[in-house]
Amino acid sequence: MSSVFDAKGFIDEQVAAVRKAVGDGRAILACSGGVDSTTAAVLASRALGERLLAVYVDTGLMRKGETEQVSGTLEGLRVKFKVVRAADAFFGALKGVSDPEKKREVIGRKFIDVFEKEADGFRAEFLVQGTIAPDWIESGGQLRDRIKTHHNVAGLPETMRLRLVEPLRDLYKDEVRQVARALGVAVSERQPFPGPALAVRCLGEVTPEAVEAVRAACAIVEEEIEAAAKGGAMPLPWQYFAVLLPLKSVGVHGDLRVYGRTVAVRAVESIDGMTASYAKVPFEVLDRISTRITNEVKDVNRVVYDVSNKPPATIEWE
Ligand code: XMP
Repeated sequence: MSSVFDAKGFIDEQVAAVRKAVGDGRAILACSGGVDSTTAAVLASRALGERLLAVYVDTGLMRKGETEQVSGTLEGLRVKFKVVRAADAFFGALKGVSDPEKKREVIGRKFIDVFEKEADGFRAEFLVQGTIAPDWIESGGQLRDRIKTHHNVAGLPETMRLRLVEPLRDLYKDEVRQVARALGVAVSERQPFPGPALAVRCLGEVTPEAVEAVRAACAIVEEEIEAAAKGGAMPLPWQYFAVLLPLKSVGVHGDLRVYGRTVAVRAVESIDGMTASYAKVPFEVLDRISTRITNEVKDVNRVVYDVSNKPPATIEWE
């Protein structure tokens, strides 16, 4: 697959295809700052120039420092973009929702609300998305069972006015990375991050407070694993993050009994996300992660490491 993939040829082909699909119209693009949507943004911007507007929605569900980082990346790549701050709207819509599929549906719908509004303002008729093959395959494409509704696929309402353009939809992750490198996209080696963001890493209800906790825990996992990989203690896993579990357990703080929250740490090796094996993270690294999470994240007294493979587990917990 990867050895014969021609990234440069693919870029020329897709720049022409996007130009043809959009004609002399205007398009809006949902950019999360991840590899897929940033690559789609650069491709579409090559095709359409100023007739493309990349919109980054600060949903309140993003990782630490993400908004600043995404703005810097898009600016550097000379893609026309806008940041929309919509955290209150997303948390409002997620109130009382704890079912994983419902979360994706609610988030997908909110995204579309925001985009339709932005698209109206920009007079766009097209929505460019960075959907890749595993997104629609795992969302129940063809004969496969629906495993998870990846929000950029099945969360779209049937009445959506914008016409979809998906230049990366036949690619797998390693191929997207090759395209990203060929386009000079600096986030090409960045680990994948799910569209519904930290909402699917807070099991149970997604409150601002729970997101704050999982954001801090994810940042610790990223910092410690990246530092260990840089220092040669371990290879950098394909994906690594934390999950806040909806359960409490008994612990001790000083002389006092506490009843605190639990964080699961997940790190996996994978090629394309379709299958994965848990990363053999050295105990010293897990030790630092555990100490930091219990010291720095409010009300967490227990950290567990997820040693399951995909299948039968999935990479994310929801
Ligand atoms: P799972 O959890 O299905 O994840 O084994 C496979 C890869 O996909 C990412 N993922 C998502 N990406 N929207 C996305 O854009 C989603 O709803 C979604 N759910 C999971 C996950 O992080 C992993 O890299």
